[in-house]
Amino acid sequence: MVKINDNYSKLPGSYLFSTIGKKVREYSGLHPDKKIIRLGIGDVTLPLAPAIIDSLHSAVDEMGKAETFKGYAPDLGYEFLREAIAENDYRLRGCQIAADEIFVSDGAKCDSGNIQEIFSTDSCIAVCDPVYPVYVDSNVMAGRTGDYDSDMGTWSDVIYMPCTADNGFLPALPKETPDLIYLCFPNNPTGAAVTKARLQEWVDYALKVGAVILYDAAYEAYITQDDVPHSIYECQGARGCAIELRSFSKNAGFTGLRLGFTVVPKELECGGALLHSLWARRHGTKYNGAPYIVQRAGEAVYSEAGKAQLAEQIAYYRKNADYIYNGLKEAGYTVSGGVNSPYVWLKTPEGMTSWAFFDHLLERANVVGTPGSGFGPSGEGYFRLTAFGSYENTVEAVDRIKAL
Ligand code: MLT
Repeated sequence: MVKINDNYSKLPGSYLFSTIGKKVREYSGLHPDKKIIRLGIGDVTLPLAPAIIDSLHSAVDEMGKAETFKGYAPDLGYEFLREAIAENDYRLRGCQIAADEIFVSDGAKCDSGNIQEIFSTDSCIAVCDPVYPVYVDSNVMAGRTGDYDSDMGTWSDVIYMPCTADNGFLPALPKETPDLIYLCFPNNPTGAAVTKARLQEWVDYALKVGAVILYDAAYEAYITQDDVPHSIYECQGARGCAIELRSFSKNAGFTGLRLGFTVVPKELECGGALLHSLWARRHGTKYNGAPYIVQRAGEAVYSEAGKAQLAEQIAYYRKNADYIYNGLKEAGYTVSGGVNSPYVWLKTPEGMTSWAFFDHLLERANVVGTPGSGFGPSGEGYFRLTAFGSYENTVEAVDRIKAL
């Protein structure tokens, strides 16, 4: 008899944002007259910048002519895009990353879910708590996490690094020694940012214990403070212990277009095996490359016009983050994040659970956010609002919350 991968049966409930989507659809089905403002999933709302649209149009035209038509993309990404990334995201920031260390993909979500495949199933993972659910769920699917404790909301074989108000939402080095350490800064969901000095401690630690850091820098475009690094490769020695995941979703609005990349330094090795070769092998076998037109759109992100237009978009979302942060603070909420991040993390009022507050906001203010407990047990009693809505909706949502 055919057997399924039983690890899937261990997963509790559905994916966090699917659960939220279902609840919101049910509510809006019952109350079609209500104007619901969605500040839950971190999905952008501004249209693609003109430089990106122009690039898409001309790439589409190329696809319509025999002389410029493109078939399969190179599986690791077109050279023009890898070179633009290496130059703009790394060399201009003083990081020594070469174009052939960049693996272009259709997004950081896929890469952060897939990267665990190149490591042994008995690798021990350490994650921040709360955490972007993809890191844990993908390891559950791979059978790496042990048993689920439904009371605690934790897995027996995962090292949790609590990020709470007491530690400024920054994890301490774990007591047990992990093999793989997932870090995301600026953080999803708390919006906390790490200084370069603090991140250097993680790099030093990983080098000392022989761990690999999987560093998710999807939100780096929102950094406003000088001592906060945009890449882990700003830290000394990071080439020897870190893989970095990046997205075009949050800095350039590609949530629907899909584009991301992973950086694997060539010298990074585990037990004598080069991780660059393993990830290249995996990419080559399971992936046919991001579409040509989307990679051309990605290239436009780094053009002069693209950079200027995207700086305006980021400023727009930052203004929303300020409005949420300051508005809720004035209203007496305890808030954090929002400064180097599009996410504002707030403490739920009057000891409400995260899901009770979700229902309260949905039903009383018709505002959707994300319950902190959906990201892990230390997220209980917290709630995340995203700055990716329109300014008008953001103002209206905050005003509605204030009026509760
Ligand atoms: C989030 O809301 O946490 C993100 O948008 C999810 C994602 O980027 O996949």
